[in-house]
Amino acid sequence: MTKIDEITRENWILGAFPEWGTWLNEEIDNTVVEPGTFAMWWLGVVGCWFKTENDTNIAIDLWFGNGKRTQQVANMKPYHQMRNMMGVKKLQPNLRAYPIVYDPFAVTKCDAVLSTHYHNDHIDPFFAKAVLDNCGPDVPFIGPLESVKKWIGWGVPEDRCQIVKPGDVIKIKDTTIHVLDSYDRTCLVTTEVGEDLDGVCPTNMDDKAVNYLFEFPAGNVYHSGDSHYSIRYREIGKKFDIDIAFGSYGENPPGCQDKMSSVDMLRMAEATGCKVVIPLHYDVWSNFKADPKEIRYLYEYKKDALQYKFHPYIWDVGGKYVWPLDKDKNEFHYRRGFEDCFEEEPNVPFKSIL
Ligand SMILES: [Fe+2]
Ligand SMILES: [Fe+2]
Repeated sequence: MTKIDEITRENWILGAFPEWGTWLNEEIDNTVVEPGTFAMWWLGVVGCWFKTENDTNIAIDLWFGNGKRTQQVANMKPYHQMRNMMGVKKLQPNLRAYPIVYDPFAVTKCDAVLSTHYHNDHIDPFFAKAVLDNCGPDVPFIGPLESVKKWIGWGVPEDRCQIVKPGDVIKIKDTTIHVLDSYDRTCLVTTEVGEDLDGVCPTNMDDKAVNYLFEFPAGNVYHSGDSHYSIRYREIGKKFDIDIAFGSYGENPPGCQDKMSSVDMLRMAEATGCKVVIPLHYDVWSNFKADPKEIRYLYEYKKDALQYKFHPYIWDVGGKYVWPLDKDKNEFHYRRGFEDCFEEEPNVPFKSIL
C-alpha cells in the first residue's frame, strides 16, 4: 500500500480538523490559576471558557459548527431572522471565517454549560454530548427557555437543564452569576415558521435571550451575548462593578443591524463603567468581518475629550487572558515560541549565515 492508496477524504478530515487538535484543551486543563486571578479563553464567536483560582470551569456560548458550505441552495429558509429583519431572500454568504480552536469531544471537566440565547452560534449539540459523556453527572445546562428547549430537543435530560430569566442569581462553586436582560433585537425578530410579526409588540425577550454578569472571586465579567447597544448599559454599570465587558462587534452589511459598531462598543464601555472592553463575534462570519483596531482608533480620538476610564483590548480566537495580570495590555498575540533558542549549538555552516 502506498501513502496515496491509504488516503481518504475521511482520514484527511480526521487528521486536519479541528485545526488546533487538542492543543487548547490541554492548555486549559493544565493551567493552574493563581490566587487573586481568573483566566479566560476566547473560543470563537462569543464563546468563552472561564477558570477560577478554585478550579471552577464555566463554558458559555461554545459553538463548534460552521456556516454556509455550499451554494447549491439559493434562498434562506422562510422566517429566518435575517429574512424577517430585512425582507431578504437570497442565501446569506456567512461562511465561518476562523477555525474551530477547541475539540469539544476532548472536554475533561466543566462545572456549568451556559447559553445566552438559542441562535445556532451560541449553543452546541457536540459540546452538550461531550459534557454528558465526559463530565460529572450533575453539570447543569443553564440558559433562557428557548435554549433549554433546544438542549432538551437534542436529548439533554430535562433534570440537567435550568431555565433562567433576568433577576435570577446562580451559584456555581466559587462563582456567582447574575442573569440580566438581553438587548438582542435580532432575537426578537427570530420567529417560528408562520409567525408573523407585523404590528406585533414582542414581549418574550426573556424567554429567548439573557445576558450574564459573572462574579468570580478575583473580578467580574459582563457577557452581553448578541445584545445590540442599549441605554440600559448605564443601568447595569450603576448596579455592578464591572471589570471586563464583552460586546458583539461586527461590520453590518447595508440594510442590516445585527452587531454593535465601534461607536456602540465605546458607548457600551463608557456606560457600563467597565475597566476593559473586549469586542467579540467579529471573527466568525465572513460577511460581518470587521477590524477591531477601528475601536482603538476611535478610542484614541475620543478618550481625552470624554475622559474614558476604560480601554479596549483586542483579543484573538484561542487566546488566553488573565485578570488582573493582563489588565494593562491593549492587544493579544499568540505565543511566539523559540524561548529556548541558543541553548544548543545551531547546526549552520557559519555564525554569520543569518
Ligand atoms: Fe444571535
Ligand atoms: Fe451570534
